[in-house]
Amino acid sequence: MSYNALLTQENEDGSFRTDSTQQDLSFLPEHDTLIRVEWSSLNYKDALSASGNKGITRNYPHQPGVDAAGKIVESPTLQTGTEVIVVGFDLGMNTPGGLGEFIRVPSEWVIPKPEGLTLRECMGIGTAGFTAAQCVMRLEQNGLNPDKGDVVVTGATGGVGSVAVSMLASKGYTVYAASRRPEEAEWLKDLGAAELIDASELTEDNGRPMQKGRWAGAVETVGGKTLEMLTKSMQHRGIITCCGMITGKDLNTNVFPFILRGLTLIGIDSAECPIDQKRDIWKVLGGEAKPAHLDALMHEITLSEAPDALKKMINGKTQGRQIVKI
Ligand SMILES: NC(=O)c1ccc[n+]([C@@H]2O[C@H](COP(=O)([O-])OP(=O)(O)OC[C@H]3O[C@@H](n4cnc5c(N)ncnc54)[C@H](OP(=O)(O)O)[C@@H]3O)[C@@H](O)[C@H]2O)c1
Repeated sequence: MSYNALLTQENEDGSFRTDSTQQDLSFLPEHDTLIRVEWSSLNYKDALSASGNKGITRNYPHQPGVDAAGKIVESPTLQTGTEVIVVGFDLGMNTPGGLGEFIRVPSEWVIPKPEGLTLRECMGIGTAGFTAAQCVMRLEQNGLNPDKGDVVVTGATGGVGSVAVSMLASKGYTVYAASRRPEEAEWLKDLGAAELIDASELTEDNGRPMQKGRWAGAVETVGGKTLEMLTKSMQHRGIITCCGMITGKDLNTNVFPFILRGLTLIGIDSAECPIDQKRDIWKVLGGEAKPAHLDALMHEITLSEAPDALKKMINGKTQGRQIVKI
């Protein structure tokens, strides 16, 4: 049986292309759970995979998509037709992913659709929103609250950033959205941002080991110089979550902010988050932590529009969450 899917392939000159294709079910690996995918979404990791990043995907041709939401076709434990989501683990990395009508995955990766969310809304949140939720939870578990001071979100127009802006604003934080795109100021303010700041301001460096203590908390998504300067610009007992490395994987900082200001730097990992924790967080995402601005965050596209959207994403030109109707 054949099905529609995106396929990323290597060209003879070493470049990569991603097209809508027909695949045979035999393309899928021999796992115990077959899912008919109805919705997926785009995440930065998909953009890397679709552009041939071998740190994400070792072998091509490959069906990308780290997120999938759909219905059970075959399962050792769940009834046919049960609505489920699969987010992270190896999906879309070296296991054919959610940007196709079918996926076959180990049952241990499957989460029944959380109450309070449709399959479409689950993909509106997706890995990026799940990551934003983890960032906010970990900030608060480490003592952040709205009375502590201003919070900054970097890469604010992106998937993780925009959901984080919405979640933090809904909780009463004064959120500064750091972005390279001033034209998105109104949209970010509609999500609850108090102010938009130019992303380049955060990378200004006067050469001192610590800068003026400005932020109580930070959801940092781009890495590189931005993360470096944030470590040096947090208030006493400031807390940063770090999840991305779009502008660099190295962190060049020093111990002064840690030992003089008690800085906390928290790493966030979503793909390999243990399944029990994933289920718990998704449950909260369908309830008290459901993003208030979910409709405004989602841009719906078709599978055939996804290759162009992935190119835009790798160039930092998408906004919010791209959800894909399969
Ligand atoms: N650790 C984890 O478990 C985990 C999970 C999910 C995502 N991530 C990582 O988090 C990061 C964000 O993911 P995402 O899905 O939110 O991606 P996204 O939707 O593509 O958003 C990334 C944002 O970063 C900014 N940006 C892009 N290119 C840039 C550049 N060259 N220089 C400076 N800023 C740039 C842009 O925001 P502005 O235009 O507003 O500046 C863009 O909207 C990625 O590195 C991703 O791999 C990690």
